Amino acid sequence: MVSDIILEIDSVSKSFIITHNSSITDNHLLVLDSLDLIVECGKITALIGSNGAGKTTLFNIVSRLIDAEKGSITLYSESQEYNLFKYKPHQLASLGIGRLFQSSHIFEQMSIIDNLLIGYQYGSAEFPYANLYIPGKSREIDGRAKAKALEILKTIFGTDHYFWKQRNQVAGRLSYGQKRLLETARLMMGNYKLMLLDEPTAGISPPFRIEIGRLLEKMVHEMGVSVLLIEHNMHFVREHADICHFMHNGRDHVFGTPADVLGNEEVRRMYLGA
Ligand SMILES: Nc1ncnc2c1ncn2[C@@H]1O[C@H](COP(=O)(O)OP(=O)(O)OP(=O)(O)O)[C@@H](O)[C@H]1O
Ligand SMILES: [Mg+2]
Repeated sequence: MVSDIILEIDSVSKSFIITHNSSITDNHLLVLDSLDLIVECGKITALIGSNGAGKTTLFNIVSRLIDAEKGSITLYSESQEYNLFKYKPHQLASLGIGRLFQSSHIFEQMSIIDNLLIGYQYGSAEFPYANLYIPGKSREIDGRAKAKALEILKTIFGTDHYFWKQRNQVAGRLSYGQKRLLETARLMMGNYKLMLLDEPTAGISPPFRIEIGRLLEKMVHEMGVSVLLIEHNMHFVREHADICHFMHNGRDHVFGTPADVLGNEEVRRMYLGA
């Protein structure tokens, strides 16, 4: 085990059976082809590649929503190794893995603060139902969750921020960019060590992109979280990622610093259209 690695993806393959594409003779679409990839501790690792390259599929495999056909994925955390293929999706949060999905998952009818509260994880892996049978436990947990949510709003965003001022208003009133920012902030309610972020900035305007960038930097540099980030915005990658991987043909085709990868001749030709 190498201590500065948090996630090791080793030779992972995945294909989908497709029914309507006659150009693919055997009806199997090979999306991941013995993919190897490493996520280092305390860094922002960007994963880039064309639409359909298999980036979200990889997240779905890491999150255990779908199975790989081959390979292994190991999480290294607190001197332990975890073979993720032995775990179910609902167990990943207690292993310290959080995920932001490509599509928005905000509860529109709930307030901003309540949207944060549902992200609370109170470290109850050993006693998940303690709040049901220990008198007062539920109230104590609610109190701790509320304190944490208020703390996030005050210290991360500040009392001048619309999240603080509108914390009791329904989240459905927020713009799309504000919702994505709130969803990203909700991950801070968990005790995550690794966050899988699937296109946090897609479709949002520059001011919210800047706020999400600041949030990521705080997560990594102040809270010690490691991030694997799928992103199509190359300014964002250049500005925030420490390492960049370009996926192509189901493999980690080119990797290095963002400057090296985005300056790479093949990446420019195949992905950036330069
Ligand atoms: N459940 C599925 N059944 C069949 N094909 C699928 C399934 N899920 C994904 N695919 C196909 O696998 C390929 C990879 O999809 P994936 O969503 O991983 O791409 P992506 O790199 O995340 O793309 P984008 O940047 O557009 O989000 C695509 O061709 C997609 O249509
Ligand atoms: Mg995707």
